[in-house]
Amino acid sequence: MGHIRALPELLVNQIAAGEVVERPASALKELVENSLDAGAQSVSVDLAEGGMRRIRVADDGAGIEPGDLPLALARFATSKIATLEDLERAATLGFRGEALASIGAVSRLALTSRRPDERHAWRIACDGGSLSPVEPAALAAGTTVEVDELYYNTPARRKFLKSEATEFARCDEAFSRVALSRPAVAFSLSHNGRRVAHLAPGSARSRASGVVSEEFAGSAIEVEADGAAVRLTGLVAAPGFTRASRDAQFLFVNGRFVRDKVVSHAIREAYADVLHHDRHPAYVLFLDADPRLVDVNVHPAKTEVRFREAGAVHQFVFHALSRALAAPLAGAARAAMPPAAAAPSVFTQPSLGVAQAASRYEAFFASAVTDEGRTGAAPAQPDPGAAPMLGYALAQLHGVFVLAQNAAGLVLVDMHAAHERIVYEKLKGALDVSRLSSQPLLVPIAMPATAEEIEEVERSAGAIADLGFEVGAAGPRDLVVRAVPAMLADLDAPALLRSVLAEMREFGASRALLERRNELLSTMACHAAVRANRSLTVPEMNALLREMEETERAGSCNHGRPTWVQFSMADLDRLFLRGR
Ligand SMILES: Nc1ncnc2c1ncn2[C@@H]1O[C@H](COP(=O)(O)OP(=O)(O)OP(=O)(O)O)[C@@H](O)[C@H]1O
Ligand SMILES: [Mg+2]
Repeated sequence: MGHIRALPELLVNQIAAGEVVERPASALKELVENSLDAGAQSVSVDLAEGGMRRIRVADDGAGIEPGDLPLALARFATSKIATLEDLERAATLGFRGEALASIGAVSRLALTSRRPDERHAWRIACDGGSLSPVEPAALAAGTTVEVDELYYNTPARRKFLKSEATEFARCDEAFSRVALSRPAVAFSLSHNGRRVAHLAPGSARSRASGVVSEEFAGSAIEVEADGAAVRLTGLVAAPGFTRASRDAQFLFVNGRFVRDKVVSHAIREAYADVLHHDRHPAYVLFLDADPRLVDVNVHPAKTEVRFREAGAVHQFVFHALSRALAAPLAGAARAAMPPAAAAPSVFTQPSLGVAQAASRYEAFFASAVTDEGRTGAAPAQPDPGAAPMLGYALAQLHGVFVLAQNAAGLVLVDMHAAHERIVYEKLKGALDVSRLSSQPLLVPIAMPATAEEIEEVERSAGAIADLGFEVGAAGPRDLVVRAVPAMLADLDAPALLRSVLAEMREFGASRALLERRNELLSTMACHAAVRANRSLTVPEMNALLREMEETERAGSCNHGRPTWVQFSMADLDRLFLRGR
Protein backbone atom coordinates (compact mmCIF):
# COMPACT_ATOMS: atom_id res chain seq x y z
CA MET A 1 0.00 0.00 0.00
CA GLY A 2 1.18 3.52 -0.81
CA HIS A 3 1.01 6.72 1.21
CA ILE A 4 -2.22 7.99 2.62
CA ARG A 5 -3.53 10.99 0.67
CA ALA A 6 -6.61 13.17 1.05
CA LEU A 7 -9.01 12.69 -1.87
CA PRO A 8 -9.71 15.64 -4.17
CA GLU A 9 -12.96 17.41 -3.31
CA LEU A 10 -14.69 16.47 -6.56
CA LEU A 11 -13.99 12.79 -5.97
CA VAL A 12 -15.29 13.06 -2.41
CA ASN A 13 -18.48 14.59 -3.75
CA GLN A 14 -18.80 11.95 -6.43
CA ILE A 15 -18.46 9.21 -3.83
CA ALA A 16 -21.09 10.92 -1.70
CA ALA A 17 -23.31 11.27 -4.75
CA GLY A 18 -23.35 7.50 -5.02
CA GLU A 19 -25.19 7.38 -1.71
CA VAL A 20 -27.40 10.44 -2.00
CA VAL A 21 -28.37 10.30 -5.68
CA GLU A 22 -28.65 6.69 -6.63
CA ARG A 23 -30.78 7.46 -9.69
CA PRO A 24 -32.86 10.29 -11.19
CA ALA A 25 -35.70 9.59 -8.76
CA SER A 26 -33.46 10.27 -5.76
CA ALA A 27 -32.25 13.57 -7.25
CA LEU A 28 -35.88 14.49 -7.89
CA LYS A 29 -36.79 13.71 -4.30
CA GLU A 30 -33.96 15.88 -2.94
CA LEU A 31 -34.90 18.83 -5.16
CA VAL A 32 -38.59 18.71 -4.28
CA GLU A 33 -37.76 18.38 -0.59
CA ASN A 34 -35.68 21.54 -0.86
CA SER A 35 -38.68 23.32 -2.39
CA LEU A 36 -40.90 22.23 0.49
CA ASP A 37 -38.31 23.28 3.06
CA ALA A 38 -38.32 26.70 1.37
CA GLY A 39 -42.07 26.96 2.04
CA ALA A 40 -43.20 26.50 -1.57
CA GLN A 41 -46.96 26.48 -2.19
CA SER A 42 -46.55 25.22 -5.71
CA VAL A 43 -43.92 22.86 -7.16
CA SER A 44 -43.67 21.83 -10.77
CA VAL A 45 -41.48 19.04 -12.05
CA ASP A 46 -40.47 18.49 -15.66
CA LEU A 47 -38.58 15.42 -16.73
CA ALA A 48 -37.00 14.33 -19.99
CA GLU A 49 -36.08 10.71 -20.74
CA GLY A 50 -36.99 9.35 -17.36
CA GLY A 51 -35.04 12.14 -15.65
CA MET A 52 -31.74 10.86 -17.08
CA ARG A 53 -31.59 13.65 -19.64
CA ARG A 54 -33.18 16.37 -17.55
CA ILE A 55 -34.87 17.05 -14.23
CA ARG A 56 -36.27 20.51 -13.67
CA VAL A 57 -37.92 21.52 -10.41
CA ALA A 58 -39.44 24.98 -10.10
CA ASP A 59 -40.95 26.35 -6.90
CA ASP A 60 -42.39 29.57 -5.51
CA GLY A 61 -40.58 29.28 -2.17
CA ALA A 62 -38.44 31.74 -0.25
CA GLY A 63 -35.51 31.71 -2.71
CA ILE A 64 -31.77 31.97 -2.06
CA GLU A 65 -29.77 35.15 -1.62
CA PRO A 66 -27.38 35.73 -4.53
CA GLY A 67 -24.39 35.70 -2.19
CA ASP A 68 -25.40 32.27 -0.91
CA LEU A 69 -25.69 30.60 -4.29
CA PRO A 70 -22.14 29.15 -4.32
CA LEU A 71 -22.66 27.90 -0.77
CA ALA A 72 -25.89 26.15 -1.74
CA LEU A 73 -23.77 23.99 -4.02
CA ALA A 74 -20.99 23.43 -1.48
CA ARG A 75 -20.84 20.25 0.51
CA PHE A 76 -21.83 20.39 4.18
CA ALA A 77 -23.24 23.90 3.79
CA THR A 78 -26.85 24.30 4.89
CA SER A 79 -29.20 27.02 6.11
CA LYS A 80 -31.27 24.49 8.06
CA ILE A 81 -29.20 23.58 11.09
CA ALA A 82 -26.22 25.11 12.85
CA THR A 83 -25.64 23.00 15.95
CA LEU A 84 -25.97 19.47 17.26
CA GLU A 85 -29.11 20.55 19.15
CA ASP A 86 -30.58 21.78 15.87
CA LEU A 87 -29.82 18.42 14.29
CA GLU A 88 -31.54 16.61 17.13
CA ARG A 89 -34.72 18.59 16.68
CA ALA A 90 -34.53 19.15 12.91
CA ALA A 91 -38.02 19.66 11.54
CA THR A 92 -36.93 20.24 7.95
CA LEU A 93 -36.60 17.51 5.33
CA GLY A 94 -32.99 18.47 4.62
CA PHE A 95 -30.28 19.06 7.17
CA ARG A 96 -26.99 17.68 5.84
CA GLY A 97 -26.15 20.31 3.21
CA GLU A 98 -25.16 17.53 0.88
CA ALA A 99 -27.83 17.04 -1.77
CA LEU A 100 -27.07 19.86 -4.23
CA ALA A 101 -23.29 19.39 -3.94
CA SER A 102 -23.69 15.68 -4.69
CA ILE A 103 -26.03 16.20 -7.62
CA GLY A 104 -23.80 19.00 -8.97
CA ALA A 105 -20.74 16.73 -8.87
CA VAL A 106 -22.30 14.22 -11.26
CA SER A 107 -24.36 16.36 -13.65
CA ARG A 108 -24.66 19.74 -15.33
CA LEU A 109 -26.69 21.72 -12.86
CA ALA A 110 -28.13 25.23 -12.98
CA LEU A 111 -29.59 26.93 -9.92
CA THR A 112 -31.66 30.07 -10.49
CA SER A 113 -33.29 31.85 -7.60
CA ARG A 114 -35.01 35.07 -6.69
CA ARG A 115 -35.87 36.25 -3.23
CA PRO A 116 -38.93 38.51 -2.96
CA ASP A 117 -36.78 41.57 -2.20
CA GLU A 118 -34.48 41.16 -5.26
CA ARG A 119 -35.14 43.13 -8.45
CA HIS A 120 -34.30 40.13 -10.59
CA ALA A 121 -33.13 36.56 -10.21
CA TRP A 122 -29.56 35.24 -10.04
CA ARG A 123 -28.12 32.10 -11.51
CA ILE A 124 -25.17 29.82 -10.86
CA ALA A 125 -24.14 26.78 -12.86
CA CYS A 126 -22.21 23.74 -11.77
CA ASP A 127 -20.70 21.53 -14.42
CA GLY A 128 -19.43 18.25 -13.02
CA GLY A 129 -18.51 20.02 -9.78
CA SER A 130 -16.96 23.22 -11.15
CA LEU A 131 -18.88 26.41 -10.39
CA SER A 132 -19.59 29.30 -12.75
CA PRO A 133 -19.75 32.90 -11.49
CA VAL A 134 -23.14 34.12 -10.25
CA GLU A 135 -24.99 36.02 -12.99
CA PRO A 136 -28.24 37.96 -13.27
CA ALA A 137 -31.11 35.93 -14.71
CA ALA A 138 -34.84 36.02 -15.33
CA LEU A 139 -37.27 34.26 -13.01
CA ALA A 140 -40.56 35.48 -11.53
CA ALA A 141 -40.04 34.20 -8.00
CA GLY A 142 -38.72 31.26 -5.99
CA THR A 143 -36.13 28.78 -7.15
CA THR A 144 -35.62 26.63 -10.21
CA VAL A 145 -33.06 23.84 -10.39
CA GLU A 146 -32.20 22.15 -13.66
CA VAL A 147 -30.20 18.95 -13.64
CA ASP A 148 -29.02 17.79 -17.05
CA GLU A 149 -27.24 14.57 -18.02
CA LEU A 150 -27.10 12.91 -14.66
CA TYR A 151 -23.93 10.80 -14.30
CA TYR A 152 -22.48 12.08 -17.60
CA ASN A 153 -19.01 12.21 -15.98
CA THR A 154 -19.26 8.92 -14.05
CA PRO A 155 -19.96 6.41 -16.84
CA ALA A 156 -19.66 3.39 -14.54
CA ARG A 157 -22.59 4.69 -12.54
CA ARG A 158 -24.56 5.66 -15.55
CA LYS A 159 -24.50 2.03 -16.66
CA PHE A 160 -26.57 1.11 -13.63
CA LEU A 161 -29.46 3.22 -14.80
CA LYS A 162 -32.35 1.25 -16.27
CA SER A 163 -34.60 1.94 -19.21
CA GLU A 164 -36.30 5.30 -19.64
CA ALA A 165 -39.64 3.75 -18.65
CA THR A 166 -38.23 2.26 -15.45
CA GLU A 167 -36.44 5.43 -14.41
CA PHE A 168 -39.56 7.45 -15.12
CA ALA A 169 -41.65 5.03 -13.03
CA ARG A 170 -39.24 5.54 -10.11
CA CYS A 171 -39.47 9.31 -10.53
CA ASP A 172 -43.25 9.12 -10.62
CA GLU A 173 -43.20 7.09 -7.42
CA ALA A 174 -40.92 9.62 -5.70
CA PHE A 175 -43.15 12.43 -6.93
CA SER A 176 -46.28 10.68 -5.62
CA ARG A 177 -44.78 10.27 -2.18
CA VAL A 178 -43.90 13.94 -1.73
CA ALA A 179 -47.19 15.00 -3.27
CA LEU A 180 -49.09 12.83 -0.77
CA SER A 181 -47.05 14.24 2.09
CA ARG A 182 -48.25 17.84 1.46
CA PRO A 183 -51.89 17.94 0.35
CA ALA A 184 -51.96 21.73 0.77
CA VAL A 185 -49.20 22.28 -1.81
CA ALA A 186 -49.94 22.27 -5.55
CA PHE A 187 -47.85 19.86 -7.62
CA SER A 188 -47.49 19.13 -11.29
CA LEU A 189 -45.42 16.60 -13.19
CA SER A 190 -44.64 16.37 -16.88
CA HIS A 191 -42.54 13.90 -18.83
CA ASN A 192 -41.08 14.54 -22.28
CA GLY A 193 -43.35 17.56 -22.60
CA ARG A 194 -46.54 15.70 -21.66
CA ARG A 195 -48.46 16.61 -18.51
CA VAL A 196 -48.65 13.52 -16.29
CA ALA A 197 -50.13 14.89 -13.09
CA HIS A 198 -51.67 18.10 -11.92
CA LEU A 199 -52.63 18.18 -8.26
CA ALA A 200 -54.50 21.14 -6.85
CA PRO A 201 -54.14 21.98 -3.15
CA GLY A 202 -56.76 20.22 -1.04
CA SER A 203 -57.47 17.78 1.76
CA ALA A 204 -55.57 14.56 2.43
CA ARG A 205 -58.54 12.69 0.98
CA SER A 206 -58.62 14.66 -2.26
CA ARG A 207 -54.85 14.29 -2.65
CA ALA A 208 -55.16 10.54 -2.05
CA SER A 209 -57.83 10.44 -4.71
CA GLY A 210 -55.45 12.00 -7.23
CA VAL A 211 -52.41 9.96 -6.24
CA VAL A 212 -53.53 6.57 -4.86
CA SER A 213 -56.95 5.95 -6.40
CA GLU A 214 -60.46 7.29 -6.32
CA GLU A 215 -61.68 4.00 -4.95
CA PHE A 216 -59.31 4.17 -2.00
CA ALA A 217 -60.08 7.82 -1.28
CA GLY A 218 -63.80 7.19 -1.54
CA SER A 219 -63.92 4.31 0.89
CA ALA A 220 -61.01 4.87 3.28
CA ILE A 221 -61.61 5.31 6.98
CA GLU A 222 -60.33 8.49 8.56
CA VAL A 223 -57.86 8.14 11.42
CA GLU A 224 -57.24 10.82 13.98
CA ALA A 225 -55.56 10.06 17.29
CA ASP A 226 -53.65 12.19 19.74
CA GLY A 227 -51.11 10.86 22.19
CA ALA A 228 -48.93 12.72 24.66
CA ALA A 229 -46.12 13.45 22.19
CA VAL A 230 -47.45 11.82 19.03
CA ARG A 231 -50.32 12.30 16.68
CA LEU A 232 -51.60 9.97 13.99
CA THR A 233 -53.84 11.17 11.18
CA GLY A 234 -54.68 10.03 7.69
CA LEU A 235 -56.65 7.42 5.82
CA VAL A 236 -56.70 3.65 6.01
CA ALA A 237 -58.48 1.25 3.71
CA ALA A 238 -61.69 -0.28 4.95
CA PRO A 239 -61.23 -4.05 5.30
CA GLY A 240 -63.33 -4.66 2.20
CA PHE A 241 -60.95 -2.57 0.08
CA THR A 242 -57.61 -4.22 0.62
CA ARG A 243 -55.06 -5.03 -2.04
CA ALA A 244 -53.12 -8.00 -3.31
CA SER A 245 -49.80 -6.16 -2.89
CA ARG A 246 -48.20 -3.62 -0.59
CA ASP A 247 -48.03 -0.97 -3.30
CA ALA A 248 -50.30 1.57 -1.63
CA GLN A 249 -48.77 1.93 1.80
CA PHE A 250 -47.57 5.41 2.61
CA LEU A 251 -46.25 6.38 6.01
CA PHE A 252 -45.01 9.90 6.66
CA VAL A 253 -43.15 10.60 9.87
CA ASN A 254 -42.98 14.33 10.49
CA GLY A 255 -43.80 14.93 6.84
CA ARG A 256 -41.14 12.57 5.51
CA PHE A 257 -41.90 9.34 3.62
CA VAL A 258 -40.27 6.50 5.49
CA ARG A 259 -40.34 2.75 5.75
CA ASP A 260 -40.50 1.77 9.34
CA LYS A 261 -40.84 -1.74 10.59
CA VAL A 262 -42.18 -0.78 14.00
CA VAL A 263 -45.07 1.19 12.55
CA SER A 264 -45.80 -1.20 9.70
CA HIS A 265 -45.88 -4.09 12.16
CA ALA A 266 -48.34 -2.19 14.35
CA ILE A 267 -50.51 -1.51 11.31
CA ARG A 268 -50.49 -5.15 10.25
CA GLU A 269 -51.44 -6.21 13.75
CA ALA A 270 -54.32 -3.75 13.85
CA TYR A 271 -55.64 -5.30 10.64
CA ALA A 272 -54.97 -8.88 11.74
CA ASP A 273 -58.53 -9.36 12.86
CA VAL A 274 -60.23 -8.04 9.76
CA LEU A 275 -57.87 -8.92 6.95
CA HIS A 276 -57.53 -11.99 4.84
CA HIS A 277 -53.95 -13.24 5.25
CA ASP A 278 -52.85 -12.70 1.66
CA ARG A 279 -54.36 -9.22 1.38
CA HIS A 280 -52.66 -5.95 2.28
CA PRO A 281 -54.13 -2.74 3.58
CA ALA A 282 -53.70 0.49 1.67
CA TYR A 283 -52.97 3.52 3.80
CA VAL A 284 -51.76 7.09 3.84
CA LEU A 285 -50.77 7.83 7.41
CA PHE A 286 -49.10 10.82 8.99
CA LEU A 287 -47.32 10.26 12.25
CA ASP A 288 -46.24 13.50 13.83
CA ALA A 289 -44.01 13.42 16.86
CA ASP A 290 -41.78 15.81 18.72
CA PRO A 291 -38.66 15.80 16.47
CA ARG A 292 -36.52 15.11 19.54
CA LEU A 293 -38.18 11.69 19.82
CA VAL A 294 -37.34 10.75 16.24
CA ASP A 295 -33.84 10.30 14.84
CA VAL A 296 -33.88 11.01 11.10
CA ASN A 297 -30.14 10.86 10.69
CA VAL A 298 -30.05 7.08 10.22
CA HIS A 299 -30.05 6.40 6.49
CA PRO A 300 -28.23 8.14 3.59
CA ALA A 301 -31.49 8.67 1.69
CA LYS A 302 -33.31 9.57 4.93
CA THR A 303 -35.95 6.91 4.28
CA GLU A 304 -35.65 5.39 7.72
CA VAL A 305 -36.10 6.83 11.17
CA ARG A 306 -35.43 5.60 14.66
CA PHE A 307 -37.93 6.25 17.42
CA ARG A 308 -36.63 6.97 20.86
CA GLU A 309 -39.53 4.96 22.33
CA ALA A 310 -40.35 2.40 19.71
CA GLY A 311 -42.57 0.34 22.03
CA ALA A 312 -44.76 3.31 22.89
CA VAL A 313 -45.09 4.28 19.22
CA HIS A 314 -46.06 0.70 18.36
CA GLN A 315 -48.77 0.62 21.01
CA PHE A 316 -50.07 4.04 20.04
CA VAL A 317 -50.37 3.23 16.35
CA PHE A 318 -51.87 -0.18 17.04
CA HIS A 319 -54.57 1.18 19.32
CA ALA A 320 -55.36 4.18 17.13
CA LEU A 321 -55.91 1.97 14.09
CA SER A 322 -57.74 -0.77 15.98
CA ARG A 323 -60.19 1.84 17.18
CA ALA A 324 -60.66 3.23 13.68
CA LEU A 325 -61.19 -0.23 12.20
CA ALA A 326 -63.52 -1.39 14.96
CA ALA A 327 -66.42 0.81 13.83
CA PRO A 328 -69.21 -1.77 13.46
CA LEU A 329 -69.82 -1.58 9.75
CA ALA A 330 -66.53 -0.07 8.63
CA GLY A 331 -65.68 -2.95 6.35
CA ALA A 332 -68.74 -2.94 4.13
CA ALA A 333 -68.03 -3.45 0.47
CA ARG A 334 -70.08 -1.72 -2.14
CA ALA A 335 -71.52 -3.88 -4.80
CA ALA A 336 -69.14 -4.08 -7.73
CA MET A 337 -71.43 -3.11 -10.55
CA PRO A 338 -70.70 -3.71 -14.20
CA PRO A 339 -70.28 -0.50 -16.15
CA ALA A 340 -73.51 0.52 -17.84
CA ALA A 341 -72.24 -0.24 -21.33
CA ALA A 342 -71.32 -3.80 -20.42
CA ALA A 343 -74.65 -4.58 -18.85
CA PRO A 344 -76.64 -5.88 -21.84
CA SER A 345 -74.23 -8.63 -22.84
CA VAL A 346 -73.77 -9.82 -19.29
CA PHE A 347 -77.35 -9.72 -18.23
CA THR A 348 -79.35 -10.70 -21.29
CA GLN A 349 -82.07 -13.08 -20.20
CA PRO A 350 -83.99 -14.36 -23.21
CA SER A 351 -86.61 -16.31 -21.32
CA LEU A 352 -87.52 -15.30 -17.84
CA GLY A 353 -90.30 -17.76 -17.13
CA VAL A 354 -92.06 -15.11 -15.13
CA ALA A 355 -95.63 -16.29 -15.66
CA GLN A 356 -95.22 -19.41 -13.65
CA ALA A 357 -93.22 -17.87 -10.83
CA ALA A 358 -95.17 -14.66 -10.49
CA SER A 359 -98.02 -15.88 -8.33
CA ARG A 360 -95.67 -17.25 -5.73
CA TYR A 361 -93.76 -14.00 -5.46
CA GLU A 362 -96.81 -11.80 -5.45
CA ALA A 363 -97.79 -12.48 -1.89
CA PHE A 364 -94.24 -11.95 -0.77
CA PHE A 365 -93.76 -8.69 -2.57
CA ALA A 366 -97.09 -7.39 -1.41
CA SER A 367 -95.76 -7.27 2.11
CA ALA A 368 -92.23 -6.30 1.25
CA VAL A 369 -92.40 -3.47 -1.26
CA THR A 370 -94.03 -0.17 -0.40
CA ASP A 371 -94.72 1.68 -3.63
CA GLU A 372 -93.08 3.03 -6.75
CA GLY A 373 -91.18 5.58 -4.66
CA ARG A 374 -89.15 2.72 -3.23
CA THR A 375 -87.04 4.92 -1.03
CA GLY A 376 -88.99 4.76 2.23
CA ALA A 377 -88.35 2.29 5.01
CA ALA A 378 -89.81 -1.16 4.57
CA PRO A 379 -93.47 -1.51 5.49
CA ALA A 380 -94.93 -3.54 8.28
CA GLN A 381 -91.89 -2.97 10.39
CA PRO A 382 -91.83 -1.48 13.83
CA ASP A 383 -90.71 2.14 14.15
CA PRO A 384 -89.90 3.11 10.58
CA GLY A 385 -88.52 6.46 11.80
CA ALA A 386 -85.42 4.82 13.27
CA ALA A 387 -84.20 3.70 9.79
CA PRO A 388 -81.56 1.18 10.82
CA MET A 389 -78.48 1.18 8.66
CA LEU A 390 -78.94 -2.35 7.37
CA GLY A 391 -82.71 -1.95 7.05
CA TYR A 392 -85.22 -4.76 7.48
CA ALA A 393 -85.07 -8.34 6.32
CA LEU A 394 -87.11 -9.32 3.29
CA ALA A 395 -86.15 -12.94 2.80
CA GLN A 396 -83.47 -15.57 2.86
CA LEU A 397 -81.85 -16.68 -0.38
CA HIS A 398 -80.86 -20.33 -0.85
CA GLY A 399 -80.17 -20.62 2.86
CA VAL A 400 -77.04 -18.48 2.43
CA PHE A 401 -77.92 -14.83 2.07
CA VAL A 402 -80.26 -12.52 3.88
CA LEU A 403 -81.94 -9.93 1.68
CA ALA A 404 -82.89 -6.69 3.35
CA GLN A 405 -84.21 -3.33 2.29
CA ASN A 406 -82.70 -0.15 3.67
CA ALA A 407 -83.01 3.51 2.78
CA ALA A 408 -80.38 3.24 0.04
CA GLY A 409 -81.74 0.11 -1.62
CA LEU A 410 -80.97 -3.58 -1.30
CA VAL A 411 -78.67 -5.10 1.30
CA LEU A 412 -77.28 -8.60 0.87
CA VAL A 413 -75.84 -10.24 3.96
CA ASP A 414 -73.70 -13.35 4.09
CA MET A 415 -75.47 -14.90 7.05
CA HIS A 416 -72.69 -17.22 8.18
CA ALA A 417 -69.89 -14.68 7.83
CA ALA A 418 -71.87 -12.04 9.71
CA HIS A 419 -72.85 -14.35 12.51
CA GLU A 420 -69.31 -15.66 12.80
CA ARG A 421 -68.01 -12.14 13.44
CA ILE A 422 -70.71 -11.50 16.03
CA VAL A 423 -69.88 -14.68 17.95
CA TYR A 424 -66.15 -13.98 17.68
CA GLU A 425 -66.42 -10.48 19.07
CA LYS A 426 -68.56 -11.81 21.91
CA LEU A 427 -66.01 -14.47 22.78
CA LYS A 428 -63.21 -11.94 22.76
CA GLY A 429 -65.24 -9.56 24.90
CA ALA A 430 -65.98 -12.29 27.41
CA LEU A 431 -62.30 -12.84 28.12
CA ASP A 432 -60.24 -10.37 30.01
CA VAL A 433 -57.84 -8.92 27.48
CA SER A 434 -55.49 -7.16 29.83
CA ARG A 435 -54.27 -10.22 31.65
CA LEU A 436 -54.41 -13.82 30.53
CA SER A 437 -54.88 -16.39 33.26
CA SER A 438 -51.96 -18.64 33.95
CA GLN A 439 -51.77 -22.39 34.38
CA PRO A 440 -48.81 -23.87 36.30
CA LEU A 441 -47.05 -26.78 34.61
CA LEU A 442 -46.71 -30.02 36.57
CA VAL A 443 -43.32 -30.51 34.97
CA PRO A 444 -41.55 -27.22 34.19
CA ILE A 445 -40.13 -27.07 30.68
CA ALA A 446 -36.44 -26.32 30.27
CA MET A 447 -35.55 -24.69 26.99
CA PRO A 448 -32.28 -23.53 25.45
CA ALA A 449 -32.24 -19.78 24.90
CA THR A 450 -30.00 -17.08 23.45
CA ALA A 451 -28.41 -14.35 25.54
CA GLU A 452 -30.86 -11.86 23.99
CA GLU A 453 -33.83 -13.97 24.98
CA ILE A 454 -32.65 -14.27 28.56
CA GLU A 455 -32.03 -10.54 28.70
CA GLU A 456 -35.54 -9.90 27.38
CA VAL A 457 -37.08 -12.19 30.01
CA GLU A 458 -35.43 -10.07 32.67
CA ARG A 459 -36.25 -6.75 31.08
CA SER A 460 -39.91 -7.52 30.37
CA ALA A 461 -40.69 -9.69 33.40
CA GLY A 462 -43.93 -7.83 34.19
CA ALA A 463 -45.30 -7.89 30.65
CA ILE A 464 -44.48 -11.57 30.30
CA ALA A 465 -46.27 -12.38 33.56
CA ASP A 466 -49.32 -10.45 32.30
CA LEU A 467 -49.45 -12.78 29.35
CA GLY A 468 -49.73 -15.75 31.70
CA PHE A 469 -46.18 -17.03 31.46
CA GLU A 470 -43.95 -17.75 34.39
CA VAL A 471 -40.39 -17.91 33.11
CA GLY A 472 -36.96 -17.63 34.67
CA ALA A 473 -33.34 -18.05 33.69
CA ALA A 474 -31.93 -21.47 34.49
CA GLY A 475 -28.37 -20.73 33.47
CA PRO A 476 -26.49 -18.61 30.93
CA ARG A 477 -28.06 -20.52 28.02
CA ASP A 478 -31.32 -21.86 29.43
CA LEU A 479 -34.76 -20.71 30.41
CA VAL A 480 -37.29 -22.63 32.44
CA VAL A 481 -41.02 -22.24 31.88
CA ARG A 482 -43.10 -22.90 35.00
CA ALA A 483 -46.51 -21.70 33.91
CA VAL A 484 -48.22 -20.99 30.59
CA PRO A 485 -51.33 -19.06 29.52
CA ALA A 486 -54.28 -21.27 30.46
CA MET A 487 -56.21 -21.00 27.21
CA LEU A 488 -53.18 -21.91 25.20
CA ALA A 489 -51.92 -24.73 27.40
CA ASP A 490 -51.99 -27.22 24.53
CA LEU A 491 -49.69 -25.19 22.31
CA ASP A 492 -45.94 -25.51 21.98
CA ALA A 493 -44.88 -23.30 24.92
CA PRO A 494 -41.20 -22.78 23.98
CA ALA A 495 -42.08 -21.78 20.41
CA LEU A 496 -44.76 -19.41 21.66
CA LEU A 497 -42.43 -17.89 24.22
CA ARG A 498 -39.73 -17.40 21.61
CA SER A 499 -41.99 -15.46 19.31
CA VAL A 500 -43.21 -13.37 22.25
CA LEU A 501 -39.62 -12.54 23.25
CA ALA A 502 -38.65 -11.73 19.67
CA GLU A 503 -41.58 -9.34 19.31
CA MET A 504 -40.88 -7.71 22.65
CA ARG A 505 -37.31 -7.10 21.62
CA GLU A 506 -38.17 -5.68 18.27
CA PHE A 507 -41.40 -3.77 18.92
CA GLY A 508 -41.44 -3.28 22.68
CA ALA A 509 -44.67 -5.25 22.99
CA SER A 510 -46.03 -8.60 22.01
CA ARG A 511 -49.39 -9.43 20.66
CA ALA A 512 -48.32 -12.89 19.56
CA LEU A 513 -50.25 -14.52 22.39
CA LEU A 514 -53.37 -12.50 21.96
CA GLU A 515 -53.25 -13.36 18.30
CA ARG A 516 -52.86 -17.06 19.01
CA ARG A 517 -55.76 -16.87 21.45
CA ASN A 518 -57.84 -14.99 18.90
CA GLU A 519 -57.12 -17.64 16.31
CA LEU A 520 -58.59 -20.20 18.67
CA LEU A 521 -61.61 -18.03 19.38
CA SER A 522 -62.03 -17.49 15.68
CA THR A 523 -62.15 -21.22 15.06
CA MET A 524 -64.64 -21.61 17.88
CA ALA A 525 -66.74 -18.80 16.41
CA CYS A 526 -66.73 -20.45 13.02
CA HIS A 527 -68.14 -23.63 14.52
CA ALA A 528 -70.68 -21.80 16.61
CA ALA A 529 -72.00 -19.58 13.81
CA VAL A 530 -75.16 -20.46 11.86
CA ARG A 531 -74.45 -22.83 9.05
CA ALA A 532 -75.63 -22.39 5.51
CA ASN A 533 -79.04 -23.91 4.75
CA ARG A 534 -80.36 -23.25 8.20
CA SER A 535 -83.58 -21.38 7.51
CA LEU A 536 -84.11 -18.23 9.51
CA THR A 537 -87.41 -16.57 10.32
CA VAL A 538 -87.84 -12.89 9.47
CA PRO A 539 -87.53 -11.89 13.16
CA GLU A 540 -84.33 -13.94 13.40
CA MET A 541 -82.94 -12.24 10.33
CA ASN A 542 -83.83 -8.82 11.71
CA ALA A 543 -82.15 -9.72 14.99
CA LEU A 544 -79.02 -10.63 13.04
CA LEU A 545 -79.07 -7.28 11.23
CA ARG A 546 -79.48 -5.40 14.52
CA GLU A 547 -76.60 -7.32 16.09
CA MET A 548 -74.39 -6.52 13.12
CA GLU A 549 -75.07 -2.85 13.61
CA GLU A 550 -73.92 -3.13 17.21
CA THR A 551 -70.89 -5.34 16.75
CA GLU A 552 -67.37 -4.00 16.24
CA ARG A 553 -65.78 -4.90 12.91
CA ALA A 554 -69.06 -6.43 11.71
CA GLY A 555 -68.34 -5.26 8.18
CA SER A 556 -66.01 -8.17 7.59
CA CYS A 557 -65.80 -11.73 8.84
CA ASN A 558 -62.87 -13.06 10.86
CA HIS A 559 -61.04 -13.92 7.64
CA GLY A 560 -61.46 -10.46 6.14
CA ARG A 561 -64.26 -11.24 3.71
CA PRO A 562 -67.09 -8.74 3.58
CA THR A 563 -70.23 -9.70 5.49
CA TRP A 564 -72.61 -7.50 3.57
CA VAL A 565 -72.94 -5.64 0.32
CA GLN A 566 -75.08 -2.65 -0.54
CA PHE A 567 -76.84 -2.33 -3.89
CA SER A 568 -78.15 1.21 -4.15
CA MET A 569 -81.28 1.90 -6.18
CA ALA A 570 -79.03 3.57 -8.75
CA ASP A 571 -76.92 0.40 -8.98
CA LEU A 572 -80.06 -1.65 -9.58
CA ASP A 573 -81.40 0.81 -12.13
CA ARG A 574 -78.14 0.55 -14.01
CA LEU A 575 -78.46 -3.22 -14.09
CA PHE A 576 -81.80 -2.86 -15.84
CA LEU A 577 -80.65 0.06 -18.01
CA ARG A 578 -83.42 1.96 -16.35
CA GLY A 579 -83.10 5.75 -16.70
CA ARG A 580 -84.25 7.85 -13.81
N1 LIG B 1 -35.52 25.25 -3.69
C1 LIG B 1 -34.82 25.94 -2.78
N2 LIG B 1 -35.29 27.09 -2.26
C2 LIG B 1 -34.60 27.79 -1.33
N3 LIG B 1 -33.39 27.41 -0.86
C3 LIG B 1 -32.85 26.28 -1.34
C4 LIG B 1 -33.53 25.48 -2.31
N4 LIG B 1 -32.74 24.42 -2.61
C5 LIG B 1 -31.64 24.54 -1.85
N5 LIG B 1 -31.69 25.64 -1.08
C6 LIG B 1 -30.65 26.10 -0.12
O1 LIG B 1 -29.47 25.41 -0.42
C7 LIG B 1 -28.99 24.72 0.73
C8 LIG B 1 -28.35 23.42 0.29
O2 LIG B 1 -29.33 22.51 -0.19
P1 LIG B 1 -29.05 20.96 -0.05
O3 LIG B 1 -30.23 20.22 -0.50
O4 LIG B 1 -27.75 20.67 -0.68
O5 LIG B 1 -28.86 20.78 1.52
P2 LIG B 1 -29.95 20.71 2.66
O6 LIG B 1 -31.32 20.71 2.11
O7 LIG B 1 -29.63 21.80 3.62
O8 LIG B 1 -29.61 19.30 3.33
P3 LIG B 1 -29.76 17.83 2.65
O9 LIG B 1 -28.45 17.48 2.07
O10 LIG B 1 -30.12 16.98 3.80
O11 LIG B 1 -30.82 17.95 1.62
C9 LIG B 1 -30.18 24.56 1.62
O12 LIG B 1 -29.82 24.47 2.98
C10 LIG B 1 -31.00 25.81 1.30
O13 LIG B 1 -30.57 26.90 2.07
MG1 LIG C 1 -31.87 19.34 0.64
